[in-house]
Amino acid sequence: MANETKISQLSGALGAEISGIDVARIGDTDFASIYDAFLEFGVIALRDQNLSPEAFVATAKRFGSLAEYPFAEGLDGHPEITVIIKEPHQTSNFGGMWHTDTTYQPEPPKATLLYAVETPAVGGDTLFADMRLAYEQLSPGMRELLGNLHAINSSTLHAASLRANHLKSGSMTGKEAAPRALEAKHPVVRTHPETQRKGLYVNPAHTSMFAGMTREESTPILDYLFRQQTRPELTCRLNWQPGTLAIWDNRSTQHCAINDYDGHRREMWRITIKGDRPR
Ligand code: SIN
Repeated sequence: MANETKISQLSGALGAEISGIDVARIGDTDFASIYDAFLEFGVIALRDQNLSPEAFVATAKRFGSLAEYPFAEGLDGHPEITVIIKEPHQTSNFGGMWHTDTTYQPEPPKATLLYAVETPAVGGDTLFADMRLAYEQLSPGMRELLGNLHAINSSTLHAASLRANHLKSGSMTGKEAAPRALEAKHPVVRTHPETQRKGLYVNPAHTSMFAGMTREESTPILDYLFRQQTRPELTCRLNWQPGTLAIWDNRSTQHCAINDYDGHRREMWRITIKGDRPR
């Protein structure tokens, strides 16, 4: 990478901040280094970017084919870009619960790019957690048990807390006006298709129960996993500034948007990258 490029880890678990790079102008060699960092750290943040919608779309396409978000229309003229806004009068936020993006789809997105357009002076950070470490730190007995299980992921489990206020404000309309219930069954332990590392693939926002078990049987184990997978030592915290571009790997991480900035405006542009069927 260019001489002035600096990579600093965000925590001992995951995440890295990369400064001194203009992502819209880099060549293939530098992009390969960025992609390697994305795979290794699970989430990377590139500071001080100045992206037009066209440049954002072009940057996203270097990570793979663009996916469609099932519950919102895109930016005018750029349907691939979902605009996430919390207005000063709103009290709930989008994504304010631990989750991996849209695991209720049969082929959930491999990555998400989020670009900060407007941020509150204080607050509005995003937490990330490393699902590779979450899996590796389980006991051998629990890893063996989970290795044979699949889980049901549903779009309706916490839909209200994940998206509701944005619909009321009109910042996310259109498709959501007639919400569909989406459901997918995925392995509880997922092998990353590029790194081959195993990771825990359940999340509190979308995973409702284990396939072939009752909800009563599933809940105590799932509750344990939800607590274990978001312990502070498995996380990092990303503070956004206008121009920050983050890219996270949905195959190895979870995230949660912190809702601590009522009275202030936050606007983010989001693009997801098509993924494969978890195995
Ligand atoms: C998301 O969950 O995709 C949004 C995260 C954020 O706004 O920080």
